[in-house]
Amino acid sequence: MKGIIPCGGRGTRLQPLTHALPKSILPIHNLPMILYPIKTLIAAGVTDIVLVANTEHFSHFTKLLGNGRKFGCNLTYVIQEEPLGIAHAINECRHICEGHDVAVILGDNLFFDNFEDSVNNFKSGSVIHTVEVNDPERFGVAELDDNMNVLSVEEKPNSPKSNNAITGFYLFDKTIFKKIENLEPSDRGEYEVTDIIKQYLDDSQLKAFKLDHIWADTGTISSLSDASKTVSDYLKENNINYLYEKSRLIRPSSL
Ligand code: G1P
Repeated sequence: MKGIIPCGGRGTRLQPLTHALPKSILPIHNLPMILYPIKTLIAAGVTDIVLVANTEHFSHFTKLLGNGRKFGCNLTYVIQEEPLGIAHAINECRHICEGHDVAVILGDNLFFDNFEDSVNNFKSGSVIHTVEVNDPERFGVAELDDNMNVLSVEEKPNSPKSNNAITGFYLFDKTIFKKIENLEPSDRGEYEVTDIIKQYLDDSQLKAFKLDHIWADTGTISSLSDASKTVSDYLKENNINYLYEKSRLIRPSSL
């Protein structure tokens, strides 16, 4: 399985912080944000990773991360010239990832879960991970029944059918690139990851799991500063200095 990290967005909601720096390089407590999704992929056993950046921000990533080896992965870069959305960013990796299943993790999502089992058990279709939030209209939203069957998915609905946000860690089988060919841009002018997920749902090929641990999204100034506090509280509570050590997710015994 190959990993893809879309980081090509302009971070407009975080200006002026993102005037000169990509959002995914901003600090989260003691690390640049991008190291969290990278380590999440590595901890899940996905070490062949493609990072998608825009032209302007590309060199910040190469300077920080290089070929990825010092972090325990093999990193390749792809440029997304226009901010046309997550599905478009994934499609820009077609020449590297076609024929492979892919794990996609958004460059601005912080997870405390270990997805190793999810990746190892993955056979086909798509897997999403949801979490209950108070402001579902900010996210992709999954309507679920009591058995975790997905009834519908919608991107940032005005009247959400549930509080289950779809987080930014997804598994897709190799049919993803065929499915992307069917997409049309949304009202916000982007090719939406939720519209890929919808096609797996229509084919009865979508599974959803709830996250076991907390999740931090960094889409707004307040969620960005909350994310730093969440990480620092978690480290203090568990008496550790880093969330990750030697490429493995530390799983405190209390969890
Ligand atoms: C994106 C996805 C959305 C998902 C969210 C998670 O939203 O489009 O479905 O719930 O990431 O962070 P965006 O960051 O583009 O607003």
